[in-house]
Amino acid sequence: MPTVPKGSSPTEPKIAPGGPRHVAIIMDGNGRWATQRGRPRLFGHHAGAKRVREIVEACPDFGVEYLTVFAFSTENWKRTQVEVAGLMSLFRRYISKETRSLSEFGVRVRFIGDRVRLDDKLIRLMNELEEATAHNTRVHLTIALNYGGRDEVARATQRLALDVAEGKLDPGAVDEETLPRYLDTYVLPDPDLVIRTSGEARISNFLLWQSAYAEYEFIDTLWPDFTKAEFGDLCAAYGGRDRRFGAVKT
Ligand code: FPP
Repeated sequence: MPTVPKGSSPTEPKIAPGGPRHVAIIMDGNGRWATQRGRPRLFGHHAGAKRVREIVEACPDFGVEYLTVFAFSTENWKRTQVEVAGLMSLFRRYISKETRSLSEFGVRVRFIGDRVRLDDKLIRLMNELEEATAHNTRVHLTIALNYGGRDEVARATQRLALDVAEGKLDPGAVDEETLPRYLDTYVLPDPDLVIRTSGEARISNFLLWQSAYAEYEFIDTLWPDFTKAEFGDLCAAYGGRDRRFGAVKT
């Protein structure tokens, strides 16, 4: 990956004015992409993993500081044992292989989701990647792994309740500023734009609390076909949207 910050050449894409600071992506369609090619579903997941790198690298060109990708949901355990094991192996390999290049590009990687069900080796690699990139600030990449929005809110509520029980938190003072401090995403801004690929128009338990005021884009492209150009178009289209957060423009 190039280590020189982009944006100085006249041929570089222009950052859309008012573009999204935080984009979250539901990377859907890997399985169908593979099936269309007569290949096993894992072939699609491997192609999808390559796409992640390209989109991460594109972020600075479009002024995107935070990118959050949905890699494995709390519901994905219901897939066949072969697919689940293949995905876990892909995550381990991806982390081992990409640590250096992500770091050189200036990417800070974080993981959200419940780690308890993940294997020890994967957890160790995740911790190492977070530590190795902790000083980076160019792109904040968050990978949601064994993540579910409802599960996250439930886990946050458990921690909040514990603080109440221990007398550290006044229950009467709990408001909508309090709960997000217990969410996995507590250091991240809320997503401005949520993209879902593959033509499905649902959010599938992704960033439920955080996306309350996000703009949504549901596009037909299957994730392994998603390109930097399409990402740029969606960021530019976001720049033209009128976000009122419930207020009326005066
Ligand atoms: C959904 O497509 C995709 C997933 C459940 C896995 C997402 C994983 C990747 C893109 C690769 C790895 C990512 C990282 C960050 C290393 P699907 O399988 O549901 O597709 P389908 O709807 O066509 O069956």
